[in-house]
Amino acid sequence: MTELTTQKEATLAAIADAHTLDALEELRVAALGKKGWVSLALKTLGAMPPEERQQAAPTIQAIRAEVTDALTARKDALEVAELEAQLASERLDLTLPAPEAARGSVHPVSQVMDELAEIFADMGFAVATGPEIEDDWHNFTALNMDESHPARAMHDTFYFPDKDSEGRAMLLRTHTSPVQIRSMVAQGAPIRIIAPGRVYRSDSDATHTPMFHQVEGLVIDRDIHLGHLKWTLETFLKAFFERDDIVLRLRPSYFPFTEPSVEVDVGFEVVDGRRVLGGDGDAPGHGWMELLGSGMVNRRVIEFAGLDPDEWQGFAFGVGVDRLAMLKYGMDDLRAFFDGDVRWLNHYGFSHLDQPTLSAGVGARA
Ligand code: PHE
Repeated sequence: MTELTTQKEATLAAIADAHTLDALEELRVAALGKKGWVSLALKTLGAMPPEERQQAAPTIQAIRAEVTDALTARKDALEVAELEAQLASERLDLTLPAPEAARGSVHPVSQVMDELAEIFADMGFAVATGPEIEDDWHNFTALNMDESHPARAMHDTFYFPDKDSEGRAMLLRTHTSPVQIRSMVAQGAPIRIIAPGRVYRSDSDATHTPMFHQVEGLVIDRDIHLGHLKWTLETFLKAFFERDDIVLRLRPSYFPFTEPSVEVDVGFEVVDGRRVLGGDGDAPGHGWMELLGSGMVNRRVIEFAGLDPDEWQGFAFGVGVDRLAMLKYGMDDLRAFFDGDVRWLNHYGFSHLDQPTLSAGVGARA
């Protein structure tokens, strides 16, 4: 027993003297490890006669407890010392410049869609959406283009090989007009919505990409007429281009889903070789630019959407969002919109903090 006591004193002294966590760990293994002297002493208990064991057991266990406590206390002390040494040696220089963080930017298409939502919300329009994978009933038939209608061929439609469960041909929507149908079916009338989104046509050159963006507008009520359409478009374009001198020219046109149909031109002036919207297109140095299609919703379309055309009437329009972005922010190649080139995005993108509000001017300050 005195031997154990001597060993214990030596171990406690060594623990008090240990200056690293590694040294402490070595001492722990030498005493309490599987083959450590405390563990070996505990193992001798089994072979002792009962009376001897009754005496020896509490002594050995007390030694184990004492060594364990000493190890724990020393470990805590060493850890605190280590942390203090670290805190004392490390410095953070707050006067150094912050590293340049990578910044994302808002794509002009998203920016323009946000601006449209803001402008039309102010006129009481809600934002509606529809699926990009459409069926030919919503994309064509219900818009007064039955299977034999020549306008179908003009849409360069991407079709899917399989029909849906109702036997309808599936396609990528060629315009946002099917959202007119979906919104009327879902909500009934009266209704006032815009529907921005992606559309697809098999077409590709400097001014056409196979995917582009449109925004649809639809107003149905009991006594809506062409005057409301003209006022709405004028108010929208003045707010969007942030100019009071936006002049519209309405030309008779044809769309199967509107009757009468109206193509809308906007007057522009050539400034430094660039077309800038504003002014009377007939004035010297000016011209007219075709901007959007619109008209009074065809009775047949209102009927297809499940409403009574003797009770409800209204107008619809559709305009290219990418086109609006190009005109407002001065890009001239549509394809660059969809290249994902970070240099282009850095140049033409907008700050996410620059939320369009009517009060602050709806346009972004790039
Ligand atoms: N859907 C037509 C197009 O894509 C635009 C349009 C919408 C015309 C609504 C009239 C009314 O060209």
